[in-house]
Amino acid sequence: MQSILVTGGAGYIGSHAVKALADAGYKVTVVDNLSKGHAAAVDKRASFLQMDLKDAQALKDLFVHEHFDGVLHFAGAIEVGLSMKEPAMFFESNVVNGVNLLEAMRAGNTKNIIFSSTAAVYGEPVSIPIKETDPLKPTNFYGLSKLMFEQLLEKYRELYGINYVALRYFNASGADPSGEIGQDYIPDTHLVPRLVKAVLGIYDKLSVFGTDYPTKDGTCVRDYIHVTDLVDAHLLALNFLFEKGQSEVFNLGNGNGFSVWEVIQTAEKVIEKKIPYEITLRRAGDPAVLVADSQKAKTLLGWTPKHSGLEEIIGTAWKWHSTHLQGYGD
Ligand code: UFG
Repeated sequence: MQSILVTGGAGYIGSHAVKALADAGYKVTVVDNLSKGHAAAVDKRASFLQMDLKDAQALKDLFVHEHFDGVLHFAGAIEVGLSMKEPAMFFESNVVNGVNLLEAMRAGNTKNIIFSSTAAVYGEPVSIPIKETDPLKPTNFYGLSKLMFEQLLEKYRELYGINYVALRYFNASGADPSGEIGQDYIPDTHLVPRLVKAVLGIYDKLSVFGTDYPTKDGTCVRDYIHVTDLVDAHLLALNFLFEKGQSEVFNLGNGNGFSVWEVIQTAEKVIEKKIPYEITLRRAGDPAVLVADSQKAKTLLGWTPKHSGLEEIIGTAWKWHSTHLQGYGD
């Protein structure tokens, strides 16, 4: 049985990945400092260690003591807005802590890592859909910190033979169809949870950030991808690393762009309730359109998104939030 270490396995995407890895028969160890994650989100079949990636020595000891065949690295800071206020924290969390992880991998002779990267590495897109080969010009410190770690991965491959797959997520959303795990992240900044929580009365209303974009209906267009589709790509990427030992970068989106209005309209149909909303000014830094070209992941990994219709994304998010009004309740 192969042994996988998951950093940030108590977080939103990480917890869904841990469940899928356990289902697939991997031996899973989770490290998470629980600053944003929830112990209750971690599948009972996994071993859980509350640990901060800042603690380079503890991390090294872990890798030397236990052998891991691969690492899924989800832990990191994710709020774009915050990254513009506290850049140092982003470089510490997403770059320095990542290097601690790579050094621990060297010490423990672990050769495979899958990294959670982001569409934010592209910045303002030069063309749509966005390809992996498009210019990398992040406009915020979040995107820059993720790009810097991608570059470090490439150096560690070249110098130390650590193979990697960097997955550039577009708009991760939805929840596990079981309704048992989902997104419980404070502060909530993302469209789908904000919208669902506006229906539940947790927020007064949803703010629609700008209706004067050069798009089909004036609102921003995004590529929403179901969290279980993202997780599928991680499992395929693990096999890819084990079988091919080849390092690659992939976009993960479903290739269809939906506007904020379309998301609201679909949600009203799925939830069968009106979404209370107000139109506000644009949010600083939002590109008008972000849509992925994920052909490379389809061709090289054999990945196909199966759950990324908007109805399913919103339906599963609704199922989770409406039955967990306090999230995990911790
Ligand atoms: N939006 C609203 N109201 C809200 C929240 C969002 O109108 O309350 C709009 C945004 O303006 C945007 C769309 O809904 O047009 C989606 O916004 P999200 O905050 O859900 O997601 P982003 O597209 O801003 O962020 C995603 C990823 C980030 C990544 C970024 C790249 O979640 O991790 O794309 O630009 F950095």
